[in-house]
Amino acid sequence: MPAAIANPFNFETPADRWSFTDREELLPRISGILDRPRQRALVHGRRRVGKTSLIKHAAIAAKRPFAFIDLSTANDLSEVARKLIGSFPVNEDLGSRLIRLLRKYVERVSLKGEHFSLGTDLRAPAEETLGQALSFLDDYALASDKCLTVCMDEFQDLRRLGGDRAEWQLRGTIQHYQRLSFIFSGSDHRLLQWMTEPNAAFFKQLELIEVGPIDSDLMAKWINDRSHRGGLIGSSFGAAVVAASGPCTGDIVRLAKQVFDFAATGRKGDIVSQGLDAIALEYLTPEFGTIWRPLPPSQRMLLRAIADDQPRFSKTTLENYGLTVGSVGTAQTALFDKQILTLAGDQVVFDSPFFRRWVRATGETGT
Ligand SMILES: Nc1ncnc2c1ncn2[C@@H]1O[C@H](COP(=O)(O)OP(=O)(O)OP(=O)(O)O)[C@@H](O)[C@H]1O
Ligand SMILES: [Mg+2]
Repeated sequence: MPAAIANPFNFETPADRWSFTDREELLPRISGILDRPRQRALVHGRRRVGKTSLIKHAAIAAKRPFAFIDLSTANDLSEVARKLIGSFPVNEDLGSRLIRLLRKYVERVSLKGEHFSLGTDLRAPAEETLGQALSFLDDYALASDKCLTVCMDEFQDLRRLGGDRAEWQLRGTIQHYQRLSFIFSGSDHRLLQWMTEPNAAFFKQLELIEVGPIDSDLMAKWINDRSHRGGLIGSSFGAAVVAASGPCTGDIVRLAKQVFDFAATGRKGDIVSQGLDAIALEYLTPEFGTIWRPLPPSQRMLLRAIADDQPRFSKTTLENYGLTVGSVGTAQTALFDKQILTLAGDQVVFDSPFFRRWVRATGETGT
C-alpha cells in the first residue's frame, strides 16, 4: 500500500471523536441526562449498532463528569465499585471541600494522581462496597456542585454479578442520591423486557432511548468521505458496503475497512462481495465453527433456511430442510437467546451478516 494511503476505519473499539458521525437526534437526549440530576435512562438497541460510542461521545462533547463501567469486564460488584471510582479524572481543585470529603471516606477512598482510588475491604459485602462508591460519587458531585452521571454498560451482566435481585438492590441504593444520574445500556434483547415489564425494579422509572441504524445515505457518504481522506481519491464503494452489511454500524465499518484495503491494493471485480467473503469465510471462520458445532440439527437447518431466504414455516421449506412447525419454534427461541437470530421489525434475521454468509456457504458445500 503506498505510504499516503492509511485505512481510516476502525471497528474494534467505540468510535472516537474523529470518526464519530451523525446521531443528531440522540445526542441531545443523552445530554439531557448528563445535564440534570436524578435522571435514569436505558439506552438499548441491537448489537454493534453504536450504543457505547453514542454515550461516550455525548459525555465527552458535553464535558460533564462521567463515571463509566462496562459490567462485562468485572468479576464482582466490588470490582464494579473500584472501576467506577477510578474511571473519571479529578481535574479540578476543590481545595478544602475535597479534603473534607476524603476525610469522611477515610480508609475507603484516596486520591492517586488525577484519579480516586477505592481501598479494598475484603470483609465488606460486595454490594455494600458498590453502595459506598456511589455515595462517594454523590457527595463528590455535591461538593463540586455538578451533576455526575454513572453509566453502566452491558447492564444485562448485573445479574451475573449480583444475582437475580441485583437490580432491586441497586434501585434501593440509588434512590437516595441527590446529584447522580444513571445511564444503563446493553444489547441483550431480554434486557429491555426485564427492565420495563410491570413487575421489574425500574418499571416506569427509566427514559427509554433506542439506538437504531444510522441513515444509510449518510453512512454511505461518510464512508466515501473518509476513504477519500484516507488517500483513496474518487472511491465510491460507500453505498455498496452499506447495502451488503445490514443495519449495524459496527458491521458496516468492519466491511468498509476490508474493502478499503482491497481498493488500496488495486483488487479488481466486486470488491464489496469479496470483502464480505474475506471476513465471513476467512477471518471469522474459526469463531463461527465454534458457534456452529454445538448446535443441534434443527437449529442448523433453521439457520440454513433463513440464510437462503426461505419462508421458515412454508411446507416446502419444512420438507427441504427436514423441519417441523414445532421444531422451528423451539429452534428459533433458542437461537434468539443465543443472539444468533434477532428481529428486524417483524422479520427474523441473522444478527450478523457475516455469520449469515458463512452459514450459506456451509449449505453450499454440505459441511
Ligand atoms: N456514530 C458513529 N460513527 C461512526 N462509527 C460508529 C458510530 N457508532 C458506532 N460506530 C462504529 O461501530 C462500532 C460498534 O459501535 P459500538 O461499540 O458503540 O456499538 P454497541 O452498540 O455499543 O455494540 P455492542 O452491542 O457490541 O456493545 C464502533 O467500533 C465504530 O466503529
Ligand atoms: Mg457497547
